[in-house]
Amino acid sequence: MNDHAATSATLLDADRRHLIHPLHHPKEHAQAQVFVEGRGAMLRTADGKEYIDGLSCLWNVNVGHGRKELADVAADQMARLAYASAYTGFSNEPAIRLAERIVGLSYANMAAAYFTTGGAESNESAFKFARYHWKRMGKPNKVKIISRQYGYHGVTLAAMSATALPGYQKMFGPLVPEFLQVAPPYAYRWSGNGDAGIEAADAVEAAIEANGADTIAAVIAEPVMGAGGVIVPPPTYFPRLRQICDRHDVLLIADEVITGFGRTGRWFALGHWGVEPDLVSFAKGVTSGYLPLGGVIVSKRLHQVIEDAPMDERFMHAATYSGHPVCCAVGLRNVDILDKEGLPERAAVMGRRLLSGLESLRSLPAVGDVRGLGMMCGVELVEDQATRKPAIGPGGRVVAEAMKRGLIIRQRGGGGTPVSGDSLCIAPPLMTPEATLDRLVNIVGESIQAAT
Ligand SMILES: Cc1ncc(COP(=O)(O)O)c(C=O)c1O
Repeated sequence: MNDHAATSATLLDADRRHLIHPLHHPKEHAQAQVFVEGRGAMLRTADGKEYIDGLSCLWNVNVGHGRKELADVAADQMARLAYASAYTGFSNEPAIRLAERIVGLSYANMAAAYFTTGGAESNESAFKFARYHWKRMGKPNKVKIISRQYGYHGVTLAAMSATALPGYQKMFGPLVPEFLQVAPPYAYRWSGNGDAGIEAADAVEAAIEANGADTIAAVIAEPVMGAGGVIVPPPTYFPRLRQICDRHDVLLIADEVITGFGRTGRWFALGHWGVEPDLVSFAKGVTSGYLPLGGVIVSKRLHQVIEDAPMDERFMHAATYSGHPVCCAVGLRNVDILDKEGLPERAAVMGRRLLSGLESLRSLPAVGDVRGLGMMCGVELVEDQATRKPAIGPGGRVVAEAMKRGLIIRQRGGGGTPVSGDSLCIAPPLMTPEATLDRLVNIVGESIQAAT
């Protein structure tokens, strides 16, 4: 056993005894990899193996690994002011500058940002922003949140109740009341006769009408569904959903935890379809994972309502680490890197290269659908291309074969369902070199062949 392997074995022994992991199961953890270093789009483990980071870890390391300037900016800020409360009456420069910058990069109707420490907390906060808004507007019964099947919004209690991947809910019920789900704009598996974008938007309207618009606070939607299997909506979906929300006085929350900060080829994704949401949840790419940070951007209309509140209706939402100066300083520098290196634009160009590479895998009998937008792609596996019979099981084997070949990817969150089957999720860092992207595609193809 070499030194690295010995260290790794000792560490894993302690890990098994003392560390509980997200989505924990000891069987899946038996061959765990201990990461020790990241460079660009590559990760290295304690036993010296190199992997292409085919999902930017968890769709978050947008600028790639090993950016020393982000470490430097964190060290500088920590030495100057590591932490200070940002509760009302107090503030700090990195939080102010980052909020201003993010508002400027998002949608024209946006006014202000509230900071959190991750995606689920951002969505929890967005739900509270929505309920708060309607209470201030004298409509206290508008409390329900509509989400879409296959949506992933995090797994704290309310976020989990919006997340519509059953595996995440099974052992943790009951769900928070007043959350309901509708069909997503999943063109490949749309059961209706018409345009999946139009009909799926109309399904939201049907749910609003069935419940009564006076009970619905908001619809939450990922512009491109991520963990649910990279489901790209038809171009008709979001413009129609926006009209429906307007018609019924329902707020539209864009969950841009994955799609924000360049992932789809724009800073924020609803611009692909010319739509502005009322609230935007973000996290992940805002710091490229170098420190935990997230937040909610609110529109001018919603912001004004908060600003105009009497003292007894103030916005009593909070968290110790909202506006954390070190996280915000890193976020600011990360946004600078994305901007200076043109990474959102690069994601658009390189994403087309990645998608067209993956499209070539349609010749494999196990590949049913290939979809993507920017540096965010999905490959859906089937038992039969003609009938689209969902494949359940090979996804995990493909992921394992890819690991053997030096590529880390994931499959649809919670695995496939009898309705949808397994899908591979692929979302490398936005700076991934062309040759690495091409290698990634080759490995995915070889792994599908080896596993099916
Ligand atoms: C779209 C979306 N929303 C929310 C979350 C939850 O974020 P977090 O894991 O930081 O709580 C995720 C995480 O993958 C996500 O993909």
